[in-house]
Amino acid sequence: MEIFADKNQLKRLLINILDNAIKYTPPGGKISIDLRQQKDSADIDIADTGIGIPEKELPHIFDRFYRVDKSRSSIGFGLGLSIAQSIAVAHGGQIIARANVPQGTVFTISLPLKIK
Ligand SMILES: Nc1ncnc2c1ncn2[C@@H]1O[C@H](COP(=O)(O)OP(=O)(O)OP(=O)(O)O)[C@@H](O)[C@H]1O
Ligand SMILES: [Mg+2]
Repeated sequence: MEIFADKNQLKRLLINILDNAIKYTPPGGKISIDLRQQKDSADIDIADTGIGIPEKELPHIFDRFYRVDKSRSSIGFGLGLSIAQSIAVAHGGQIIARANVPQGTVFTISLPLKIK
């Protein structure tokens, strides 16, 4: 599968999501990366077994400077996800977050497949 993307922006997008997965997953947890080809998009799942995000916070996490309460003790500005989302959107894609079962978070990055 092929996508058409800016190399540095794509790197920044992936680093921002992975940085969170590592930062918000305590030692002993698991982070997995999975790539799937869909009809019109390449979908990358980055799943962790970390502290998770309460359902009611999910609609806000892509806002600039937004940080979920319980993670405020760790270092960050609340910018990583808003940057990642703008990069995905600039490429015609999107990022969605949902709860992982039984614990943690899954981020799905969808980017349109290259038109042949
Ligand atoms: N994998 C995750 N597990 C749990 N919470 C997360 C995860 N990813 C993001 N969050 C929550 O969403 C908030 C926003 O994430 P974002 O990456 O934008 O900011 P940050 O990590 O706090 O700071 P920055 O990325 O600017 O260093 C985080 O503060 C955290 O509360
Ligand atoms: Mg971050």
